[in-house]
Order: sequence, then structure tokens, then C-alpha cells
Amino acid sequence: PDTDALPRVLLDWYDVHARDMPWRVGPVQRKAGIQPDPYRIWMSEIMLQQTTVVTVRDYFQRFVARWPTVRDLAAAQDADVMGEWAGLGYYARARNLLKCARAVVDEHDGVFPADHAALLQLPGIGPYTAAAVSSIAFDLRHTVLDGNVERVMARLYDIHTPLPAAKPELMARADALTPSDRPGDYAQAVMDLGATICSPKSPACGICPWRDPCAARAAGTQGELPKKTPK
Ligand code: ADE
Repeated sequence: PDTDALPRVLLDWYDVHARDMPWRVGPVQRKAGIQPDPYRIWMSEIMLQQTTVVTVRDYFQRFVARWPTVRDLAAAQDADVMGEWAGLGYYARARNLLKCARAVVDEHDGVFPADHAALLQLPGIGPYTAAAVSSIAFDLRHTVLDGNVERVMARLYDIHTPLPAAKPELMARADALTPSDRPGDYAQAVMDLGATICSPKSPACGICPWRDPCAARAAGTQGELPKKTPK
């Protein structure tokens, strides 16, 4: 496929179809110069690991209503944060959330660093979250690779190597596509595409902005991809 045209086509799609999320600064607002709040992007990305957007919404709203800034969260009682997290599961995430908030206050004067390497040093922030915050909050060119993006790349390039062995190849493909123009919108656009149109079962190829360049669609293999090594 003509790799240069792909990000542009997806961004045009995102301009029309971006999902509305309470932490998201949409493409229209962003073009008007409104920047996302890194604290809200970071919190949403931590919550979205292993939890669906539908469930995260309400938890996210309660957290930011109660602790509007990272300083507020850093000053919270541990038990209050754990109580507010109850039901979201994977409680290590909540403990790391507090640790990270306190590290941002203690080590970065209460300001999330606009720097991928510095973000990676913070508690609970791994490669995925560092890339998500760098791109979405700071519009830096970093590539997010979550399950949605893996599926989209496996199909777009008809990659039959099973997961997890395919991860380096999928990352290389995803990274090669990431544009320097609007990397934050682009990161969210690929995730939205994977969550809505390029879904695991019965993807809606007929309305996909990438239907023409999609190698799996041409081969008829989209329903089999991505392959997974049996457990
Ligand atoms: N899943 C995790 N983070 C997301 C985001 N920022 N946009 C869409 N889906 C997501």
C-alpha cells in the first residue's frame, strides 16, 4: 500500500468519527489550540488498561471530580483512593496511581514531564502508557501499540505470525505509519478504528477508511487475524 497516504486518510476519518470521551480533546478543539490535560490523559490510560471505555467513564468522572489535579490526588489518603477504585480491579494500578501522582509532585513540581523517557521512569508507567501520554497529551511522535492497534496492523499488512511473537513486527509497522503531523490525534484514531470498525469479530470493512489498502481484506483473511499462539 501507499504508506504515505494512510495516516492522512485515517486522520480525515477521525475528524468526522472521533468518539466522545470525558478526557478527550477532540480534533476540532485541538485544532483551535486547546491542549489536553496530561493528568486526565494519564489517569484515563491507567484506567483503560484491562477495563472497557464504558466502565471507565464513570470512575474517571468521580476521580477527577474528587481530585481535580495531580496535587490533589497526591495529597489523598491511600484508603480513599482504594475505595474510589473499588470495582475496577487490578488494584496494583490504584496503588501505582497514587505513587505516580506523588512522584510527579515530588520530582517534577506537580507537572507531568513532556518527555517519553522521563514518563517511563514514573511508577506504573510502562512503554504503552508513556507512548499514550507523550502522543495524546503532548502531541509528540510516539507509537501506541495496544490490542486494538495490533489487530489493525495485523490486518492492514496481512501478518500471520501469531501473537505474541508478532509484536516486534506489528510495532515496526505501527511506528512506520505514525505521522509527525498530529501524532496525538493519529494515536487515538488508530485505537478508535480498532475499537469500532476493525473489531475482533465481523469487522465493518465496507465503511473502513483503510479498506482499499488493507491486505487482509484483499486476501479475505481479516476474520482470522491476528493469530494467537495457543496457551
Ligand atoms: N483505549 C485506550 N486508550 C484509548 C484512547 N485514548 N482512545 C481510544 N481508545 C483507547
